[in-house]
Amino acid sequence: MHVVAAVLRDARGRILLARRTAGRDLAGAWEFPGGKVEPGETALQALDRELHEELGIRVLGAEPLVAVPQAYPSKRIVLDVYSVTAFEGTPRGRERQALAWTPPEKLRDYPMPPADRPVVAALTSPARYL
Ligand code: C5P
Repeated sequence: MHVVAAVLRDARGRILLARRTAGRDLAGAWEFPGGKVEPGETALQALDRELHEELGIRVLGAEPLVAVPQAYPSKRIVLDVYSVTAFEGTPRGRERQALAWTPPEKLRDYPMPPADRPVVAALTSPARYL
């Protein structure tokens, strides 16, 4: 399964996390917002669609940051993470999910899905990650 996720920053450099709601897998975990790439979609189309559905914003520009292969108990995914360089609108939790704008050095305080952890490493200590 191909999953896209966004690193979205505000003007102060804080990064947006979204909390997975009850009833889904990994409920309660804080993730970089995103979701499944549907058949026929490019990764960037999926990123724009997912962020529109979940947050009410449109992605105007994004650059690949890191791709994380992850085996979950019921599926294997590749989490394809993009750094969003420009977006339109103000992110709001449109699916009743909580949002948190988080300084990069505080990202480690949030419980995350396993696939999202290496993204934090890439953001906060790129030298060690490479
Ligand atoms: O959000 P959705 O359930 O469509 O995501 C598909 C799969 O990708 C789920 O297993 C979810 O846990 C995983 N995922 C992830 N990290 C994200 C977004 C989704 O591990 N940031």
